[in-house]
Amino acid sequence: MLTEDDVKNALKAVKYPGYSRDILSFGLVKQVAVNDGAGSVSMQLTASNPEVAPQIKAESERVLHALPGVNRVHVEVNQQGGAQPAARTQSPWSNQHKVPGLRRIVAVASGKGGVGKSTLSVNLACALNHLGKRVGLLDCDIYGPSIPLMMGINQRPTISAEEKMVPPANYGVKLMSMGFLLEGDQPVIWRGPMIVKTIQQFIGAVEWGELDFLLVDLPPGTGDAQLTLCQTVPLDGGVIVTTPQEASLGVVRKGIAMFQKVNVPILGIVENMSYYTTPSGQRVEIFGHGGGRAEAQRQNASFLGEVPIFTEIREAGDRGVPVVVAAPQQPPGQAFIKIAEALNQRLT
Ligand SMILES: Nc1ncnc2c1ncn2[C@@H]1O[C@H](COP(=O)(O)OP(=O)(O)OP(=O)(O)O)[C@@H](O)[C@H]1O
Ligand SMILES: [Mg+2]
Repeated sequence: MLTEDDVKNALKAVKYPGYSRDILSFGLVKQVAVNDGAGSVSMQLTASNPEVAPQIKAESERVLHALPGVNRVHVEVNQQGGAQPAARTQSPWSNQHKVPGLRRIVAVASGKGGVGKSTLSVNLACALNHLGKRVGLLDCDIYGPSIPLMMGINQRPTISAEEKMVPPANYGVKLMSMGFLLEGDQPVIWRGPMIVKTIQQFIGAVEWGELDFLLVDLPPGTGDAQLTLCQTVPLDGGVIVTTPQEASLGVVRKGIAMFQKVNVPILGIVENMSYYTTPSGQRVEIFGHGGGRAEAQRQNASFLGEVPIFTEIREAGDRGVPVVVAAPQQPPGQAFIKIAEALNQRLT
């Protein structure tokens, strides 16, 4: 006799086109029913690429027809255009209990390395704190956790009476980082399940207390590792960082596609390294300018703001005193505070 579990198990063999993850683990399968040798499956996806749905449908039908005891198969793939706001209700976490105490969990991601994700995460966290919000920061970068340095935090978490990890804090921002668990400069060779377990503990076994925002700094890239993280953490939305040049905008598209795959709404795009002003006041658009805003428009996503290149931003990061803390009224600090305001508005 064909069971619902048979159908679900069979669907694990269907990979999301272009990924090594299967459609079940992406949470696309919404309903499965079986009756007397007939199997019916309903799926929901938000991908913008119109080729994805028919591919998934055909492949699902193929694996289901191959099951013993199946005489009829019905696969329905509902495709939603656009990433927002309807996608909100589709979050794979929408039926789950929110983490008590954490009002908003927002990821900062980018397809490319070195575009300023960690710089944005750190300054955004401090800027939200500057706006009176209670903020935590979760550094999920397993390969190069840089946030403890940028936040000037070198003590490790302590353990509470309830055996939870108590995150160290600085500038009013609580921090958990993979860096706290690594020994010195040892490279990390972790397998996926270990990463997922650790991140789950970062959410569940850490005494975050009451937070208005928990920001999550994702490692560079939009591959399986990042997707898994997006599914492990019950995200309310994602912010994508890019630099202005065309070469980096592919990043935005990949970032958007990644969030769509796990039904996480895109809260907006930030353009970093927008331009540079020389000491004599001349504006130089090193990587071009405006690509982030244009792409946001094209993607029907919010543009949250731009951050010019300031030597102070880099120096502050190296010193462990983010610009937003060191000089909130100066242009570099103000750039991040404006983005924090835009993000906060987007979520209220
Ligand atoms: N607007 C800016 N002005 C000046 N320097 C910047 C700016 N944004 C980032 N930087 C510097 O660029 C470097 C890379 O930034 P950062 O580490 O934040 O990028 P990332 O995207 O997190 O990198 P990774 O992909 O390695 O995690 C850092 O030295 C940072 O100080
Ligand atoms: Mg980083």
